[in-house]
Amino acid sequence: MQVHQFDAVIIGAGGAGLMAALYASEQVNTAVISKLYPTRSHTGAAQGGIGAALGNLEEDHWEWHAFDTVKGGDYLADQDAVDVLCKEAVDTVIELEHMGLPFDRTPDGKISQRRFGGHTNNETGKPVRRACHAADRTGHMILQTLYQQCIKNNVNFFDEFQVIDIVMNGDRPAAVIAIEIGTGELHVFQAKAFMFATGGWGKVWTITSNAYTLTGDGNTVLYRRGIPMEDMEFYQFHPTGIYRLGILITEGVRGEGGVLLNGEGERFMERYAPTIKDLASRDVVSRAIYLELKDGRGVNGKPYVHLDVTPKTVNHYLKEAGENRSIDAHYIESKLPDILDFCRTYLGVNPVSEPMPVQPTAHYAMGGIPTDVDCRVLGDAEGTVIPGLYAAGEAACVSVHGANRLGTNSLVDLVVFGRRGGKAMADYCKGAEFVELPANPTAEAEAQLNRIRQSKGKTRVATLRKEMQAVMSEYVGVFREEDGMAKAVEQVRELKERFENDICIDDQGSIHNYDLLEAWCLGSLLDLAEVTAVSALARKESRGAHSREDFKARDDVNFLQHTFAAMGPDGKIALSYKPVVIDRYQPKERVY
Ligand code: FUM
Repeated sequence: MQVHQFDAVIIGAGGAGLMAALYASEQVNTAVISKLYPTRSHTGAAQGGIGAALGNLEEDHWEWHAFDTVKGGDYLADQDAVDVLCKEAVDTVIELEHMGLPFDRTPDGKISQRRFGGHTNNETGKPVRRACHAADRTGHMILQTLYQQCIKNNVNFFDEFQVIDIVMNGDRPAAVIAIEIGTGELHVFQAKAFMFATGGWGKVWTITSNAYTLTGDGNTVLYRRGIPMEDMEFYQFHPTGIYRLGILITEGVRGEGGVLLNGEGERFMERYAPTIKDLASRDVVSRAIYLELKDGRGVNGKPYVHLDVTPKTVNHYLKEAGENRSIDAHYIESKLPDILDFCRTYLGVNPVSEPMPVQPTAHYAMGGIPTDVDCRVLGDAEGTVIPGLYAAGEAACVSVHGANRLGTNSLVDLVVFGRRGGKAMADYCKGAEFVELPANPTAEAEAQLNRIRQSKGKTRVATLRKEMQAVMSEYVGVFREEDGMAKAVEQVRELKERFENDICIDDQGSIHNYDLLEAWCLGSLLDLAEVTAVSALARKESRGAHSREDFKARDDVNFLQHTFAAMGPDGKIALSYKPVVIDRYQPKERVY
């Protein structure tokens, strides 16, 4: 067992972790622990843009961005935090530009901006160009840019180390325990401050845009040590994943003029969102696709619709909208190169000349580790701060996304709160001491791994994972109702039992033992699936991404509040609630 000591330790090397590391490392000795090589983190999969009201192509204001965020989130977002997000988005994007991020440009050299779902001119209700983009590789470029800056700042990287436990001393974090994937050795990382920026857990569902690594490890590590999870029932399904594969097809396709067509060739979003159409917020569009499929209007009788960005179709609708522009194949090739590549490679479809088959795909967790606007983790619904513990990015819930995140706001969240969290950690470290370690800090981590190694059951990890994904997709997906969610809770609990008592792994070695780690990650997914289903079952209303067939209306009297789900000492989940911060925008019916 090796013991390391740093002032600040950040777990996760996506956009939030790297931005935090950059800022923390300016003042204190900082390490980043990542289960991947940093530039393989999932931020790299974010395609279409980062929202900021720069107003480079038309009038825009950060307050408009804030209103769209609150409305998109179905009024569950904390409005003080949303103000921070949207105001600071502007100078954070400029900061990224100054670091060298290769944004696309307007003809006069400014950062180019495109339309995206739910981003509007608040006066006309029409789409506004707010998403700053580097082709359809915006997240990838953010990751590369921040990683280079971190290297320049001498951040200490521990790549391919997976954190599986946090050691608490009373209410204070003392260390995290990581397994070095290459050797199987356990490492103790002692620090004054820790940040969890470990991303999401889309692998709970069958069809997802998330990579294999998105198993919510950081959330589970904290949850198992008593930290509550906030608003877990709100999980976003992006409307356009590649049919059957789930790989993301950016909303930027629709931002560039692409349209959704059902099996009858109808642009159905005109019926669901007459003003903003295909660029309504994601929950609205995903539900519309499901309803079209349910009513038998999929393409060729299959459960998908078409996303059409061929110049002929786009130009037809641009003309119909009275827009004085047209596009050609070269334009599409230059603005959406990765999307074209994915479709050509995985589907044999060329989006320049034919439509893409798409279906909603599990994409993003609005909920997560509760924090304040400085990324300090909250230990309960009363807002008690845990000194020295921070979280940012998708793993966290500030809450700026409310019940449904606006497209582009994940990248904004990463860099705005990564920066705030990094600064806050550094300030904290300067006045803090290391927390004393217990005699055997790795005991619990070793016990967890040994339980898996020694399990002599019959069930393969992959089989159990598939069963969990099927249950969650069927009962806790885009549409939900009481009986289904109750079944999901029961079945996920059965799966947890089988995970404890009936799994088997083959690899008993220590070097690159992914058999063992995949099993550990399944345990994490199962915990988060249970919290998601339990939180969802208790919310008897429809709001944002939580759409109930049996409670179709939003209920601001009883449910304008955040859910906090914590594991009690008996292992059972206890729910409590926290009021939403309402500031300028009183809840209204959402019309797009
Ligand atoms: O559609 C997209 O490019 C995804 C962006 C996001 O999730 O914000």
